[in-house]
Amino acid sequence: MSGQLSHIDLLDMKNRGEKIACLTAYDASFSAILDNAGVDLIMVGDSLGSVIQGNPNTVHVTLENMAYHSRCVALGRQRALLVTDMPFMSYTTVEQALSSATRLMQQGYSQMVKLEGAGHRIDIVKSLVDHGIPVCGHLGLLPQSIHQLGRYAKQGKDQDSARTIIDDAIALQQAGAALLVLECIPSELAQTITEQLSIPVIGIGAGVDCDGQVLVLYDVLGISKGYIPAFSRNFMTTSDSIQSAVESYVQAVKDRQFP
Ligand code: KIV
Repeated sequence: MSGQLSHIDLLDMKNRGEKIACLTAYDASFSAILDNAGVDLIMVGDSLGSVIQGNPNTVHVTLENMAYHSRCVALGRQRALLVTDMPFMSYTTVEQALSSATRLMQQGYSQMVKLEGAGHRIDIVKSLVDHGIPVCGHLGLLPQSIHQLGRYAKQGKDQDSARTIIDDAIALQQAGAALLVLECIPSELAQTITEQLSIPVIGIGAGVDCDGQVLVLYDVLGISKGYIPAFSRNFMTTSDSIQSAVESYVQAVKDRQFP
């Protein structure tokens, strides 16, 4: 496969049974390293609030921050699909979401926007898709709701909450989402959703059976300060360069050796 990947290429990968390797990035230099190492999808995550800005969580990240880092990452890569997070409170209404996503695509050169949750956001996803903006959903642990959640913890552990996540995943796909991230849910639940959905499902702390995996780059390189989730892995402990650590991560995802 050559040229810049689109979500259609990722769909083909799901249908072929080829695992999708994803990582976050926030600047052009790391973006180029990831691209050269064969990362299929680069997410400009609002995790930049923690790993770049030193904040305790993602709620302080602004649309301006996201557009700036998205553009930096976009200019560093040639092949990987670029997905950019819509930050906290930038998609509370259809109008606001359209305006925020437009900025991320026009100024941030993004190919797809990611937003957390379902509920009233289903109509927002429909409207974005109607306007030609590809959307990635995000269910399970929703870091932008940390103050409501109270702590970072596994979601969907009981039958009712698992059912809600399954229903939300189906609703997001029906609304036109092209991708779905599942964060920190039981692996059996992630497997059920991955099998039920026709769109690619990318897991983070959601087991090996998702169509792909994503991690925060700085966790993979062992340079994150503060909270590092137990499901992450530092690939620098077995590599002698950043490039080879990222290559090992990509290979481990493709071979189902990670997680
Ligand atoms: O903010 C982020 O980095 C993310 C991914 C890790 C899924 O949402």
